[in-house]
Amino acid sequence: MDSHFMEIISKIKNEGIREKVAGLVENSTITIDGKIYRGMPLDAAPAGLSRHHSYPGGLVEHIIGATEIALALCDVVEKVYHGEVDRDLVLAGVILHDIFKPLTYENAEDRGYKMTPLADRIDHLTLIVSELVRLGFSLDLVHIVCAHHGGQAGPIWPRTVEALICHLADLTDSRLNGEVLRAARFLSREVTREELNGINSKEAFEIVTSKAIEGWKGVRKTVERIRRERPNAH
Ligand SMILES: [Fe+2]
Ligand SMILES: [Fe+2]
Repeated sequence: MDSHFMEIISKIKNEGIREKVAGLVENSTITIDGKIYRGMPLDAAPAGLSRHHSYPGGLVEHIIGATEIALALCDVVEKVYHGEVDRDLVLAGVILHDIFKPLTYENAEDRGYKMTPLADRIDHLTLIVSELVRLGFSLDLVHIVCAHHGGQAGPIWPRTVEALICHLADLTDSRLNGEVLRAARFLSREVTREELNGINSKEAFEIVTSKAIEGWKGVRKTVERIRRERPNAH
């Protein structure tokens, strides 16, 4: 397990919540109708099909990114607005909000990912909310996870400060990653006339930064280096 991810779990001060969260992270399976559903390993899973974090390890990156943003928002609430926020709830909510995504994605035949038969029937939010209720997590935590997509894309708007922070952190990290991935795909396509598939976050940021520093010449150099370093890349 990624050490940064472990460190984030260890920041939950309440021992009972911390152990429950760690237990679910280590065993993120769900049983429906007597059938146990296990997804791809958490370390390997993406957090999206194509829009954001759509590469191996993307989900862990997204959880870490969203947690760091959420903790920064907790600081703003406390230090700037003099509000109160329960950091344990925020941490638990962000860590668990997408933890069943590995059950919803599988490798596609050619490359990339596709939805699993389970995801064809139930979305990742409903899966995790059901399991949190079954495992006896608190109503406040269930609400945070239930509201993480916001009321337009999800079942309910955030009604607590902690839920709002988790929703904004999720949205911000998805956009941050997704916009840079989209820009990097566009830039590499413009210089090579070919799709550079499977771009990860590090490569995407390198491509976008090379454009800002050296223009199209920089993009070409970076994309060619990425292709050389990844013989299987297309
Ligand atoms: Fe989600
Ligand atoms: Fe998310």
